[in-house]
Amino acid sequence: MKLADYKATLSFSNGSPAMEMPVYHGSIGPDVIDIRKLYGQTGMFTYDPGFLSTAACQSAITYIDGDKGELLYRGYPIEQIAQNCDYLDTCYLLLNGEIPNEKESQDFHKLVTYHTMVNEQMQFFLRGFRRDAHPMAVLTGLIGALSAFYHDSTDINNPEHRHIAAIRLIAKLPTLVAMAYKYGIGQPYMYPRNELSYSGNFLRMMFGTPCEDYKVSPVLERALDRIFILHADHEQNASTSTVRLCGSSGTNPFAAIAAGVACLWGPAHGGANEACLNMLEDIQAMGGVSKVGEFMEKVKDKNSGVKLMGFGHRVYKNYDPRAKLMQETCNEVLSELGLEKDPLFALAKQLEKIALEDDYFVQRKLYPNVDFYSGIVQRAIGIPVNLFTGIFALARTVGWIAQLNEMIGDPEYKIGRPRQLFTGAARRDMPQVAKR
Ligand code: SDX
Repeated sequence: MKLADYKATLSFSNGSPAMEMPVYHGSIGPDVIDIRKLYGQTGMFTYDPGFLSTAACQSAITYIDGDKGELLYRGYPIEQIAQNCDYLDTCYLLLNGEIPNEKESQDFHKLVTYHTMVNEQMQFFLRGFRRDAHPMAVLTGLIGALSAFYHDSTDINNPEHRHIAAIRLIAKLPTLVAMAYKYGIGQPYMYPRNELSYSGNFLRMMFGTPCEDYKVSPVLERALDRIFILHADHEQNASTSTVRLCGSSGTNPFAAIAAGVACLWGPAHGGANEACLNMLEDIQAMGGVSKVGEFMEKVKDKNSGVKLMGFGHRVYKNYDPRAKLMQETCNEVLSELGLEKDPLFALAKQLEKIALEDDYFVQRKLYPNVDFYSGIVQRAIGIPVNLFTGIFALARTVGWIAQLNEMIGDPEYKIGRPRQLFTGAARRDMPQVAKR
């Protein structure tokens, strides 16, 4: 970051002394006011619940321009990455900052491939869960449990450990997600196959059985790879901030990523794709497109508590570029599978059309986000609704680990420890027992 040639001055109308604060430029995007000395000089905190105006760190990984609807991974537009890279090349880019050349790409693909198996003991963790446990509950447990196996990559301050932990997490998440799915349906686990691609391997571990060979559909393989790419990283969202805060204590990377999985599960965040598909199925059950108007009235009625899931975003005040690409993938997969007439896809497009013309949404700059179409395409691929967020976690693991490693590698980083505005009881003495 670069010191700006101007400063910010904080003045008080009560005559308290004014304070000057340095301003820094990034390479693109908003400047920041460095308030690190504010409490020391004024005895006051800033107040920003939800961090709407707070930059918690500096980062060179992902840039979002919410007004333009632009998303860059290491400077490359998401549209170009989706067109020209596969997910593992995208992982290489997010982790290392540059697109791999042919040899680097081959070596990276091979390295990940040979880490896809998990320790045989992992299956005994699954047996402790009910068969109908939500896959995100299972995954939070399994990913945290990885730190019980890989003691040679738990020292977050050792760059070698950070590297191998990143590879292990990227490589093993598909295996663990597929195991959580197989456990839930009572089918045997499928071991990874080294001759398959990352996405092809995941499809086979999910939908293959030991009873017959599984043929990977190139269309579904490509669609899944694109879904992974679109979910790979997204600046300082809630789960990434969770991973950074958790990792800032020096805990091991597996524990920090497990914290990210737990945060992603929420319906306001990564759980929105599951909630969005359930919303579409509910409207379909009520009568489909003919009931959209009635549903939208509920959404606009604050007292209903009903939100249009898959719409709105803290940063995007324009169309989420991932939603556009996801809609394209939806079209490709549905037409390849002969499901162009999928009623839920038609319903989603009708909902989007109505919302984008409705003042309530236009005034609040509410547009489809990444979760609006991702459920429809995952359902068409055959992924069960309650596993959608698990797929999101699988894809986002590379972003979480890249952001964690960037933080640990930043000489300025400290353990995160926000303060508060205290509104509780001031000091008081305990009443005698008799007087309680
Ligand atoms: C992800 O941060 C990231 O980058 C996340 C993510 C990533 O890749 O990591 O992009 C992934 O989490 C995408 C978001 C998925 N969540 C949903 O689709 C759930 C539905 N969306 C909302 O819950 C909401 O839009 C949020 C949580 C996404 C954003 O909330 P904000 O920024 O806190 O905005 P807000 O709640 O203050 O909303 C502003 C107004 C409010 O109305 P008013 O008080 O001004 O009258 O818009 C309304 C909200 O009630 N509003 C919605 C709405 N989203 C916001 N009204 C109806 N339906 C919605 N979906």
